[in-house]
Amino acid sequence: MNQANKNKKMSYYKIQNLEQYFKHYNKSIREPRKFWGKIAEENFVWYQTWDKVVDFNMAEAEVKWFTEAKVNIVKNCIDRHLARRGNKTAIIFEPNNINEEAQHITYNDLHQRVCKMANVLREQGISKGDRVCIYLPMIPELAVSVLACARIGAIHSVVFAGFSATAVSSRINDSECKMVVTSDGGFRGEKTIDLKGIIDEALINCPSVKNVLVVKRTNQSIFMETGRDQWLQPLLDNASDNNVAEIMDAEDPLFILYTSGSTGKPKGMVHTTAGYMVYTAYTFKNVFQHEENDIFWCTADIGWITGHSYILYGPLLNGATTVMFEGIPSYPDFSRFWEVIEKHKITQFYTAPTAIRSLAKESIDFVQKYPLKSLKVIGTVGEPINEEAWHWYNNHVGGKRCPVVDTWWQTETGGIMISPIAFVTPTKPTYATLPLPGIQPVLMDEKRNEIEGNQKEGSLCIKFPWPAMARTIWGNHQRFKDTYFSTFPGKYFTGDGALRDEVGYYRITGRVDDVIIVSGHNLGTAPIEDAINEHPAVSESAIVGFPHDIKGNALYGFVILKDTGETRHREHLKKEINQHISDHIGPIAKLDKIQFVTGLPKTRSGKIMRRILRKIAEGDLSNFGDITTLLNPEIVEEIVEGKL
Ligand code: WTA
Repeated sequence: MNQANKNKKMSYYKIQNLEQYFKHYNKSIREPRKFWGKIAEENFVWYQTWDKVVDFNMAEAEVKWFTEAKVNIVKNCIDRHLARRGNKTAIIFEPNNINEEAQHITYNDLHQRVCKMANVLREQGISKGDRVCIYLPMIPELAVSVLACARIGAIHSVVFAGFSATAVSSRINDSECKMVVTSDGGFRGEKTIDLKGIIDEALINCPSVKNVLVVKRTNQSIFMETGRDQWLQPLLDNASDNNVAEIMDAEDPLFILYTSGSTGKPKGMVHTTAGYMVYTAYTFKNVFQHEENDIFWCTADIGWITGHSYILYGPLLNGATTVMFEGIPSYPDFSRFWEVIEKHKITQFYTAPTAIRSLAKESIDFVQKYPLKSLKVIGTVGEPINEEAWHWYNNHVGGKRCPVVDTWWQTETGGIMISPIAFVTPTKPTYATLPLPGIQPVLMDEKRNEIEGNQKEGSLCIKFPWPAMARTIWGNHQRFKDTYFSTFPGKYFTGDGALRDEVGYYRITGRVDDVIIVSGHNLGTAPIEDAINEHPAVSESAIVGFPHDIKGNALYGFVILKDTGETRHREHLKKEINQHISDHIGPIAKLDKIQFVTGLPKTRSGKIMRRILRKIAEGDLSNFGDITTLLNPEIVEEIVEGKL
């Protein structure tokens, strides 16, 4: 284990003012190895330090950080805090139901629970490198399971508990998970979700799964398959709380998290141990300017990267108190977020633009009932925040006192990349502002050249590796390379477009590929189209996004029916199509509008011209630009008429 730094004044771990930001930023670009090496050395415990800070070949999509170092991330999240913070609350669990008491789990409690769970996993045959699928609601057992996997070196694959059986089984099969941790059910607002039923259905086609551990949450009666399923609690009761953490290599995979691509099946993004640890800790500390007695609340689900990095790893690595909320913003009424902020005296609040928009449309009384004086910083993530929502958030939640940190990043980037640093970077509505130290964004033009200068717009790439970047797609490195490192050779391509203003601030303008962000969820068009096309009456379909006041974007489907003499009512068919999507992917991917058409505008090479469909969906029927390259230009008019 390393020695604490002797020269505290030189620390790069915390940025305190704008001048320092520029100093650290410049250092991180000129001497990235020294910069990250120093941060890593001074702020974490290692079994063995590294040989090289970074070793990479971007063109081949090969990146390694802290080579040869040995570490355990959970030792850094929990064990090392015990002496100083054993009785400090690590996790506040706020249940869905307001009549159920919140739980305050101290670092000591968390240590004990994670050690017991780690022992249960080992007893059930899980060891280093095995994949464990975690399909749980936002309850403490989710955090404990994730950390227990990391403690013993098992690779967690958390699947958001809103995904359907088909979506879960494809994710389990892709990474051949040996075990599933789930619960009898989950509470969500007024609803109870039958999670175990979904897992039972998913596992019909998952030969790799040997064991299922079931948390009791809703007490509903469920099916337990003998020899496969076990209740978790009795196993925990019998487990020792003495557990030796696995010594992990810096580049051992820590987790897999699936994200939608514009084509094909979801991509299992692989994050590795040391780089992810250093970067999530560093970004959490700086962006939110975390201090010892703060209470941090990120409203994301741990099923998404935001939950991984900023509910669990980032906060715990800093010995912070982090909130896990089981419920939804509208239950029991639209003041729930504000009530929870008041109740737990939240200091930093981090949510998504779609949540802000949905609450802003309700009566202002819901938020004005609460003074929200404890808040210091408010953040957003997941999609571009529109100006109106930004101001509403700033005025009514932050009381114009709290910096709004509009944080741009991705599942693939592991941590926040471009964002104001609270109290340090002057904010500007709808701008993610400046890159964090270590991050080198560039804008690229259509000819694949780097765009120099300001007041320019282009495709956003990152030209130098950073510690938390994903290392590969599980089982398909070629796809990783093709998707992210081939469009602009030698650079990481984000899939987003961005604008750089006159002072170098970045504003993210949205996806430039076929991923559509609906209510903050990334949805690839291809998997949804596949689901629709599986309906026996459908021959072909195309999905595009169109602006929606609350969701940001909603989905519009153009569907060609087979000539089967289908006589059922069209409205009935629309319902069935949405049910298909719900069954294959999940309710989040349902279409808001469906239009039946007889053809789709296609180029001579057979590619659907989505640009035209997007205009139609947006209701902009005036000028479709050049459609002479279409194989079937007449179809455009027909679709427009069908819409009217
Ligand atoms: C979008 C979420 C604008 C972007 C952490 C990105 C944003 C995708 C912002 C990644 C933001 C995320 N402003 N757009 N502050 N944050 N995005 O993988 O298009 O779920 O590529 O990761 O969300 O979504 P993901």
